[in-house]
Amino acid sequence: MYRIIKKEILNPDVELMVVHAPYVARKCEPGQFIILRVDEDGERIPLTIADYDRKKETVTIIYQVVGYSTKKLSNKNEGDFINDFVGPLGQPAPIHKVKRVLGIGGGVGIAPLYPQMKKMKDLGVQVDVLLGGRTNKHIIMENMFEEFVDNIYYATNDGSKGIKGFVTDKLLELLENGEKYDLVVAIGPLVMMKAIVNITKENNIKTNVSLNPIMIDGTGMCGGCRVTVGGETKFACVDGPDFDGFLVDFDECMQRQSMYKEEEEHICRIGIGDGNNA
Ligand SMILES: Cc1cc2nc3c(=O)[nH]c(=O)nc-3n(C[C@H](O)[C@H](O)[C@H](O)COP(=O)(O)OP(=O)(O)OC[C@H]3O[C@@H](n4cnc5c(N)ncnc54)[C@H](O)[C@@H]3O)c2cc1C
Ligand code: FES
Repeated sequence: MYRIIKKEILNPDVELMVVHAPYVARKCEPGQFIILRVDEDGERIPLTIADYDRKKETVTIIYQVVGYSTKKLSNKNEGDFINDFVGPLGQPAPIHKVKRVLGIGGGVGIAPLYPQMKKMKDLGVQVDVLLGGRTNKHIIMENMFEEFVDNIYYATNDGSKGIKGFVTDKLLELLENGEKYDLVVAIGPLVMMKAIVNITKENNIKTNVSLNPIMIDGTGMCGGCRVTVGGETKFACVDGPDFDGFLVDFDECMQRQSMYKEEEEHICRIGIGDGNNA
């Protein structure tokens, strides 16, 4: 059992939890994830490690409340326990010392971007970040990034923070203004990562992305998280979740991600799946 040390509501859809998980905290690296089960009967849900503290033996997760299991998790409070918290899973993100990086985070993808950018800063890299969301309420963790980044830019659909438009609009503006980057790390919805890669490819800027396909066992056994990268089949849970964005077949990923849409949108009339019957 894993104790919830802290819970914070970041915006109406997104929450943060600091969980006492000594083994994960000792071993984890930016880019890796955990799979948790809220209770004994719970589904296994993968969540990226947003931060960790080796001394306090804690791991921070940031999750969007979207369906049955994340609602169940959201019903838990400080002092409560999570049944399983397995990890660290996946490969650490490929973090190397470069001169200058631009981290681009969209929505809840801002959370996994944070530990990667923090580690790059520790390596002496010049770090700029560009955070995007539907409105200013959907931009999370800005204070945490502001503590260490060199420049921070925002893009919102309604213009309530930063430029009015997509992160790709701001990326184009930065490149047109002559900003030079050796690496872009983009984490967010597939459609966002695909659009970013289209721009960075043209400008020959190496780009890493983080994929979050449906995962079931998280151990490379079930094949649920299959993705095509550079023409080869990879399993995001053991080979990723971070990959070279130029090589990812985004169209296939998007098609596979929408495979269970009907089931996910189905609200059972006898109450199973509404998240309130935990
Ligand atoms: C490696 C990885 C890291 C992730 N990190 C985060 C994170 O840091 N924060 C965050 O908010 N979300 C993250 N997700 C997505 C998160 O796992 C899903 O939001 C969660 O499982 C939804 O469960 P649900 O029962 O509440 O929703 P459901 O109603 O079951 O599904 C809602 C949506 O969640 C996604 N989803 C559902 N089950 C899974 C699953 N087993 N594997 C992957 N996606 C699923 C689907 O796209 C679906 O449309 C990550 C996914 C992966 C694969
Ligand atoms: S989740 Fe089963 S192979 Fe990756």
